[in-house]
Amino acid sequence: EENAQGDEDKVYIVGTEPTFAPFEMKDEKTGEITGFDIELIKAIAEDQGFKVEVQAMGFDGLINAIKTGTIDIVASGMTIDEARQKEVDFSTPYINSGLALAVQADNEDIKSVNDLKGKVVSVQIGSTGAKKAQELKDQGLLGEVKTFDTVDIVMREVDNGNVDGTINDLPVTNAYIVKSANSLKVLENLTSEEYGFAVQKGNDLKAKIDAGLKNVKENGKYAELEQKYFQ
Ligand code: ARG
Repeated sequence: EENAQGDEDKVYIVGTEPTFAPFEMKDEKTGEITGFDIELIKAIAEDQGFKVEVQAMGFDGLINAIKTGTIDIVASGMTIDEARQKEVDFSTPYINSGLALAVQADNEDIKSVNDLKGKVVSVQIGSTGAKKAQELKDQGLLGEVKTFDTVDIVMREVDNGNVDGTINDLPVTNAYIVKSANSLKVLENLTSEEYGFAVQKGNDLKAKIDAGLKNVKENGKYAELEQKYFQ
């Protein structure tokens, strides 16, 4: 039986880069992709009467995959920014985040972003962290930017001393610090950013996601997920 929108059987493909705990990651036991973003978009889908199928892909391929219709929705801790807004539509923001600089816990050399001259930082390709690092480099405030496909490698490079630090989203760096028994430390917050779900420009899926987000915020489901992933 169809609902009013006739959307009951519709399966939308959700694209994500799943090395970004607690927002999206592979469950260690089942290998399934889970996380705050994934459970939130599933709750929104349930509220709005559509289904989703989650597909892992490279972070720097997500926008193009929306444009070509390979995927329908990005749920990937994606920051709403001007450059991306030219290419896709974003839902209303679903969470606040932002970039931070982190280094090895015992690093005494680097105390802030002002100490990065001649230093090397790791970042994820296509991320706002990569953009920020490149800006610092262009201003002569940073030695080198090393770009990697996945955030697990971005973090590992700092841990094993291949790079001096990383510019990455604070909640993700914090989750890594907990998991790695404080091998790294956060020095400084660099930006304030908001995440949105991205869809093709002009697609009415945006209205459905916005309506579902509003509902799950009102009915307690959002708070439940927040509690589960950010307590
Ligand atoms: N918030 C940052 C951005 O939009 C990083 C997002 C990375 N997400 C991921 N799932 N790897 O550029």
